[in-house]
Amino acid sequence: MTNPLGKDLLALEPLSADQIRLILDTAEPFKEISERAIKKVPALRGSTIVNLFFEPSTRTRISFEFAEKRLSADTVNVTASGSSVSKGETLVDTARNLEAMRIDMVVIRHGASGAAAFLANRIESTVINAGDGTHEHPTQGLLDLLTLRDHFGDLAGLRVCICGDVLHSRVARSNIWGLKKLGAEVAVCGPRSLLPNAIAEFGVTVFDRLDEAMEWAQALNVLRLQLERMTGGYIPSLREYNRVFGVTRERLDRATHPLLILHPGPMNRGVEIDSDVADGPHSLILNQVTNGVAIRMAVLYLLAGGKPELAEAAKGAPER
Ligand code: CP
Repeated sequence: MTNPLGKDLLALEPLSADQIRLILDTAEPFKEISERAIKKVPALRGSTIVNLFFEPSTRTRISFEFAEKRLSADTVNVTASGSSVSKGETLVDTARNLEAMRIDMVVIRHGASGAAAFLANRIESTVINAGDGTHEHPTQGLLDLLTLRDHFGDLAGLRVCICGDVLHSRVARSNIWGLKKLGAEVAVCGPRSLLPNAIAEFGVTVFDRLDEAMEWAQALNVLRLQLERMTGGYIPSLREYNRVFGVTRERLDRATHPLLILHPGPMNRGVEIDSDVADGPHSLILNQVTNGVAIRMAVLYLLAGGKPELAEAAKGAPER
């Protein structure tokens, strides 16, 4: 029988609303495992998964690793600096050598857009994109959808504004595709220098002023200013950026309705978001991190051929 998600998870753009809902629904029963004293079930026992991270990561790498271990998979972590990539080995050669050791899945983060798809076309193992350049970060988009769905119930008609450095953000792209497929209304807000030229083609509303975006939106997904990807003068200064586009306590207090705040992390506190917002009562930022483990468990489980209707049963008794 064919897998309802296909062989790989590379992006949210090609997924249907039903496929996205399947992942979100499968994540629900997996949430409970992380609340147990013994956080381990046998659903992926015998599977071998390689986490291939060519860019730094805290949340994604560690939550994939937790998800794999909680499903009882065997895992290996590979970084560029600790592997033969640092001696000039190509991505495909690295992956083919890993496959020769009989692996089942590769979770890859890479600085080049399209790297995950490139690999998926060249190896038989399942490939999961953990962020490729400025293209997509599908599991981040999924955990953001789950966090919003937890709070609002239905995403249809929900108004979400993605704020800040959209140009360099794979998180923005996955959120836009995912939210729109589930019927949400999506806007972006940021300096024009940090919006893609083709932003209109994404079918989103564009706000130039954050206060207007906040009047419209029910939730803001605040993006990190990706200073490491900026080669030119995109903004006059960090202080100026915070003054014009920073999500501050004063701005939230001025809004005529309460807004929920998301941020994919890592945060530049005092730049795109102030600490009293990030740590305040409207912040869902740590809920996103918690949901990241359940989403990654669901993705791993489904791609390994797990039956969605059996996800509840797959939780089973804890491993001892
Ligand atoms: N959101 C996210 O991708 O964070 P990391 O870079 O820490 O994985």
